[in-house]
Amino acid sequence: MVIINDTSKYGEECFICLENGICRLTLSPKCPDVAFLSTLIVDAKHRRKGTGNMLLVAAEKIAVEKGCNALTLESETGWTKDWYARHGFVVVGEGYDENMILMCKPLQNVQKRPKNKIKIATFEKK
Ligand SMILES: CC(C)(COP(=O)(O)OP(=O)(O)OC[C@H]1O[C@@H](n2cnc3c(N)ncnc32)[C@H](O)[C@@H]1OP(=O)(O)O)[C@@H](O)C(=O)NCCC(=O)NCCS
Repeated sequence: MVIINDTSKYGEECFICLENGICRLTLSPKCPDVAFLSTLIVDAKHRRKGTGNMLLVAAEKIAVEKGCNALTLESETGWTKDWYARHGFVVVGEGYDENMILMCKPLQNVQKRPKNKIKIATFEKK
């Protein structure tokens, strides 16, 4: 496995490369709690051999090491959605069209962080 760390104008790009597949992990200092996974692609001739699973596990491991509390991605609504769900991702919102869905997985770091101290004010409508 080769991991290429690069910087973009927004933060850090991490490309995880296996012989037959690649995925991209994006991190931003403006939002250090969350990593965004994208461009998960396995060579069509080498699918269904576990490469996708390995890339997903590697991306999650790196996100944990980077101190992120959550890993997010956009998935198609077909079988990939169920596959991500088996990896612990939950649907958190709609995608940019009806074929896409936003998903998120809380990472183990989330248990280590102090309790959320944000106070939420509620207003009654008159
Ligand atoms: C999605 C993709 C990366 C999966 O890669 P892969 O190496 O074939 O995945 P794996 O062999 O690790 O299989 C992953 C799981 O999905 C299932 N799966 C894989 N291809 C499937 C298919 N065409 N239909 C239904 N299930 C499928 C496997 O059974 C496996 O399930 P498991 O966790 O129970 O073992 C690959 O199909 C791909 O590159 N697709 C095109 C790009 C894409 O759609 N990317 C994801 C964007 S949301």
